[in-house]
Amino acid sequence: MDAAAQERSEHQQRLDDLYRDPYPLYARARRAEGLTFVPELDAWLVARDADVREVLLRSDDFSSEQALRPDVMPAPAAFGVLAGGFAKRPTVVSTDGPAHRRHRAPLNSGLSAARVTALRPYAAERAAALLDGFAADGRTELMASYARRLPGAVIGRLIGFDPADVPAAVHGGHQAEQLLFRPLDEAAQLAAAEDVVTLQHLLDRYARARRAEPRDDLCSAMVAALAPGDGELTDDQRAELVSNLQNLLIAGHLTTTALIGNTFHHLLRDDRKQWELLCARPELIPGAVEEAARFDTAVQGFRRTTTRPVTVAGTELPAGATVFVAYGSANRDEGRHDDPDVFDITRPPARHVAFGYGAHGCPGSQLARGQLRLTLELFTRRLPGLRLAKDHAVEMRPTMIHRSPLALHLTW
Ligand code: HEM
Repeated sequence: MDAAAQERSEHQQRLDDLYRDPYPLYARARRAEGLTFVPELDAWLVARDADVREVLLRSDDFSSEQALRPDVMPAPAAFGVLAGGFAKRPTVVSTDGPAHRRHRAPLNSGLSAARVTALRPYAAERAAALLDGFAADGRTELMASYARRLPGAVIGRLIGFDPADVPAAVHGGHQAEQLLFRPLDEAAQLAAAEDVVTLQHLLDRYARARRAEPRDDLCSAMVAALAPGDGELTDDQRAELVSNLQNLLIAGHLTTTALIGNTFHHLLRDDRKQWELLCARPELIPGAVEEAARFDTAVQGFRRTTTRPVTVAGTELPAGATVFVAYGSANRDEGRHDDPDVFDITRPPARHVAFGYGAHGCPGSQLARGQLRLTLELFTRRLPGLRLAKDHAVEMRPTMIHRSPLALHLTW
């Protein structure tokens, strides 16, 4: 390995270590005066709960344009493959002000409490069917057998996919994340780019089909909101719809997959005391959902960019500075939560920021919470003997985007 390659690989190793366990860095940043610049993140870390909320509320000073800035720049050959798909367009997560409100409107109604309630029987039926698939085996790897499957089925149903299209859509979502947030070798980049292009064409087919014959689904609502009228969609409209549908699909499943994984991990570790408590007192399930979301926050942080010179926590930042708004750190802030590093499902309801805060706060939070609640109702009832498999240590995925175990081997 030459010196430059060696340096890149050492940098990546440091980044992976930080991503697998960012909590010590957060604790130092919360204690430090002002904001801490973190070279590995190439951003100022906003770590305290009050500072996180302040930045998220000051959306005129802190733009979302680079909220989801990728960690990795794919190779030119991968861009060559991506050129066969659709050009990237701004989405709800990367826009501000009126443009953001325009993207957000169909999501607010499409993810309303009534819509989420109406989806519950389907989600419960899918959850039970997935569990039936492995309940007799005495062991499972939960991420593959359940956590990566239920949220995809649910968001697919909401968007309006044919169930047969869900596995490819879910796979495409994972590949998009890998391509932009993990260093892959060139062959893996090309394969991921191919899968992203396949996903984009699938989303485009749905957008055009719903334009021709609208249905009562979120895809039709997004087409109507982002491309009003009834003529054929223009190339521009198609590209905008594909970007926004792709964003919704990914936001709808990778996040919830991660939360399900983290929840089981923390309930079952430490001699499964919290799990036994939950099985004995299922009325604690809603509190357990909030505690899991707070304790090991699935989406660790998003970025913001200053639109003008600003001061936060006494630190002066120039226009164009990048901050990393760490929900995962705010949720461990001792100034806001008692004993924040203890996972305790009996904790009185705490106002955490696992689902963001302010104008960009998560519109899918009730959908995510609902899936986790019904999952815990199902598993505490059917598999109370659940435990972490002794022969597999739990290893975290090295990412801040959707923090979760790589795999979760369970027995009963
Ligand atoms: C455990 C599950 C989830 C977590 C932890 C989570 C977390 C978040 C967070 C932290 C944000 C704020 C982003 C920002 O400040 O820029 C956000 C936004 C968003 N979430 Fe979620 N989310 C989850 C599930 C979902 C689901 C199920 C959906 C869709 C069905 C969804 C759709 C979205 C969308 C569209 C946005 C962008 C909103 C905007 O920019 O106005 N999320 N989510």
